[in-house]
Amino acid sequence: MAVTNGLFYHILAFTSCVAFIYFSFRDLKDDFRSHFLENKPQVRFVERNGTQFFLGGKPFYVNGWNSYWLMDQAVEESTRPRVSTIFRTGSQMGLTVCRTWAFNDGTHNALQISPGRFDERVFQALDGVIEEARSHGIRLILSLANNLDAYGGKSQYVKWAWEEGVGVSASNDSFFFDPSIKSYFKSYLKTLLTRRNHMTGVQYKDDPTIFAWELMNEPRCSSDSSGRTLQSWIEEMSAYVKLIDQNHLLTVGLEGFYGPTSPPDKLSINPGEWFSMLGSDFIRNSKIPTIDFASVHVYPDSWMVHADITEKERFVSKWVKSHIEDGEKMLNKPVLFTEFGLSTEANGFDHAHRLLFYKSIYDTIYESAKRNGAGSGAFIWQLIVEGMEILFHDTFAFVPESIPSLHSLLKEQSCRLATLRYGSDLVKQFSKNVCE
Ligand SMILES: *[C@@H]1O[C@H](CO)[C@@H](O)[C@H](O)[C@H]1NC(C)=O
Ligand SMILES: *[C@@H]1O[C@H](CO)[C@@H](O)[C@H](O)[C@H]1NC(C)=O
Repeated sequence: MAVTNGLFYHILAFTSCVAFIYFSFRDLKDDFRSHFLENKPQVRFVERNGTQFFLGGKPFYVNGWNSYWLMDQAVEESTRPRVSTIFRTGSQMGLTVCRTWAFNDGTHNALQISPGRFDERVFQALDGVIEEARSHGIRLILSLANNLDAYGGKSQYVKWAWEEGVGVSASNDSFFFDPSIKSYFKSYLKTLLTRRNHMTGVQYKDDPTIFAWELMNEPRCSSDSSGRTLQSWIEEMSAYVKLIDQNHLLTVGLEGFYGPTSPPDKLSINPGEWFSMLGSDFIRNSKIPTIDFASVHVYPDSWMVHADITEKERFVSKWVKSHIEDGEKMLNKPVLFTEFGLSTEANGFDHAHRLLFYKSIYDTIYESAKRNGAGSGAFIWQLIVEGMEILFHDTFAFVPESIPSLHSLLKEQSCRLATLRYGSDLVKQFSKNVCE
């Protein structure tokens, strides 16, 4: 069943109409100011030159966040308001980019019901998410598949290939090499990238609200620890994305583990020896010319289950700095820490420690930004809104207003990055008064 004209869309259409009139008037009055006002309908793509992102000719450092659930929650009318609430919350903390899932393969509220079959109702929900982001001055990193089982993942593609009698291997890693599965995935990529947003009429590939595409959330291919299988999948799929869409930046979605082709001093930075055997290979994978920037995750709790807090802190500091250095010396590309978090259920968890841990990541990004370095931003995992605490509590998620110390920390990071961009005289104006 297709949702044609929900209340959500009426309200949106009305708001953007008012915004349009407002900004047209402003344009006449003060062309210079409105040219730089990022809250107006966005017209510019984020670009990259060397190790930095640029927006409107100036370096762009990101304070971002994860809310993977946006499309899913936008499908049903009863949960849809959560999408605008989180964008409003993010925008009030000066956050500028949200990373979220643009896939749901074969599960509840699936976007892709079966290979090549899409639910228009869910596509319209995703259209709405993009439009809501734009109206709040937020850009999106849209992830295109999952290595894990949540929302389908690579195992769902493998299952489909078996159901259709074309699968060449039962291994879930056949996602990366089975010809039929690769063509399923390409057909999904093409459908998504050329999707015309029913609210704006703009094709996704032409929509600057999208900051970047991410091929897959946390790809691993442990059945081939040489890394060759994953490497050639990234080469093939990134080239395919670029064939259709030359506007957007593209990243892999890696966790950042150093693989078999890394120098020994880099291998020793991995959280443990076996992390080099997972089939991913950070430097080699990120070097591929059709990949525009590197992505890294930071999860000391899951990667170093038995380490104490001091060891974890030491690891995190080395991990973040090492990847920024890779961006500068090996890749000549920006590096985004697209997920970081501490679990409230980890051994010895305490709030004060989490605050310090998050602050240390933000400090490193800020220091990098100050010297025009490759450390281009960090995305906290993850923000939710009131009413989601139970169903969406993955032990990392929190409602920003409910933890004032974290809320201020996020805002402070936004404001120091905004101050670098606009200068202390203009930051108040350009941050919509979020920053003093
Ligand atoms: C990228 O940066 C280099 C070095 O700063 C500069 O010479 C070049 O013009 C820039 N390219 C673009 C497309 O802005
Ligand atoms: C693939 O993943 C699914 C879902 O996690 C699992 O049930 C299945 O056993 C896996 N297949 C193989 C061959 O490991």
